[in-house]
Amino acid sequence: MQNKARKLISSIKKPFLKKVPTPYPLLQGEYLKGRSAFITGGNSGIGFEIAKKFLENGASSIVIAGRNIEKNKKALAKLEKNKKYGSQSISYITIDLENIDESIKLVKNFLKSNAHHKTNILVNCAGIGIGEPIGKTSVEDYERVLKVNLEGTYFLSQEFYNYMVSHKISGNILNVLSSSSARPATTAYICSKWAERGLTIGMAKKFIKDNIVVNAIAPGPTATDMLGISPEKDGITLKNNPSGRYAMPQEIANLAVILTSDLGKLIVGDVVYATGGAGTITVDDITY
Ligand SMILES: NC(=O)c1ccc[n+]([C@@H]2O[C@H](COP(=O)([O-])OP(=O)(O)OC[C@H]3O[C@@H](n4cnc5c(N)ncnc54)[C@H](OP(=O)(O)O)[C@@H]3O)[C@@H](O)[C@H]2O)c1
Repeated sequence: MQNKARKLISSIKKPFLKKVPTPYPLLQGEYLKGRSAFITGGNSGIGFEIAKKFLENGASSIVIAGRNIEKNKKALAKLEKNKKYGSQSISYITIDLENIDESIKLVKNFLKSNAHHKTNILVNCAGIGIGEPIGKTSVEDYERVLKVNLEGTYFLSQEFYNYMVSHKISGNILNVLSSSSARPATTAYICSKWAERGLTIGMAKKFIKDNIVVNAIAPGPTATDMLGISPEKDGITLKNNPSGRYAMPQEIANLAVILTSDLGKLIVGDVVYATGGAGTITVDDITY
């Protein structure tokens, strides 16, 4: 009788489990209730999942910033479907961080018009990783990478910092680095991530007196467009990563909630590596 019952239960469970093949528990709650976030790179990959998770955790306002207007519109439409409450506001702003002067202007205008939402979280997630390693790097590729990844993070953080201070807002700045920031810097991309790491610690030190907490997440290889990985089509196996797989962007988004909410209030100037071991325990994997 017991066996029969077990068989019946497992036959019910199996198809259900197939539909939810998540190796990652998802952080759900009201951890960001009433918070208002501006997320660069929010139209895609990790930034998009951060936007989604912020909404799931009760954020009252989300602005995603990306370069491609069509992607911004599509992401906005998807996020609208993920609203937890009807009152949540979601919008996009189209900026190209390769043009920093114009980006600063657009952000200044946005902040002037946004007094009502009082943005108190900035996530610097936009990033590109193009070009060849040192020895073959073109000046053009080097400059593009440094512009988007470093200059963008530097100057947007400066704008939001000044805005938060002048409006007496306590807030968070979260930078998305990479496991690369633990590896020898052989590319412009890795250089930019090392620099972002230094900037994270520097801003954390300078801004904490104004109640602005700065931290960073350093993901390892993550299943997004940047690596051309679609989990549904390709799966997430990655043999040369100690954990045997890619990270899912949702896992990185969980950490973003922790680092921008009261859950992580005592974490200041830290870089949280979420890499499956890539770059952290493999950094010296060379056989001499
Ligand atoms: N995937 C990984 O394995 C991995 C690992 C470690 C760290 N990261 C970091 O995670 C962050 C997000 O990457 P992802 O994996 O989510 O890749 P992704 O899906 O390609 O997203 C990159 C985002 O950056 C935006 N962006 C690129 N150039 C821009 C520009 N000039 N101006 C404004 N926005 C720009 C893109 O917007 P448009 O599409 O509109 O240009 C897009 O929203 C990056 O900083 C990356 O370095 C990724």
